[in-house]
Amino acid sequence: MSSSDGSAMPTRRHVIGTVGAMGVVACGAALTGCGTGERAPAGPPPAVKGKVVAQTADIPVGGGKVIHEWKIVITQPSAGVFKAFNASCPHKGCAVSSPSEGVMRCPCHGSEFDAVSGKCLKGPAQAPLVEFALKVEGGGIVMV
Ligand code: FES
Repeated sequence: MSSSDGSAMPTRRHVIGTVGAMGVVACGAALTGCGTGERAPAGPPPAVKGKVVAQTADIPVGGGKVIHEWKIVITQPSAGVFKAFNASCPHKGCAVSSPSEGVMRCPCHGSEFDAVSGKCLKGPAQAPLVEFALKVEGGGIVMV
């Protein structure tokens, strides 16, 4: 890597390629406050509080299910442990997929999120999925 004068300057192609790769891979790096379309975290829709949104028997261990009616994804990382997240991708709001191999993927631009914590694993999203509080009553998953 050297310029035409023989110095060790990176080429324009190298710089653009490096910046482009960083923008796609990194979550939570730079770009905040630069008009990226990121959304502020939000609580669960008021209409869903106190309601049974799914049955525990419908949520596979190690997987999960998107409840499209409420834009909520319920996961069960291990037997009897349930998590609820806002299914709206923090990038532009598309609904993420049900988890597969511990990852929820956004079909719109490829962001990926951890099914246990909601943490952003791959951009362009810069923020995690918002986690909602829940409780299990009988066989039902209730948003609180
Ligand atoms: S809406 Fe763009 S990655 Fe999800």
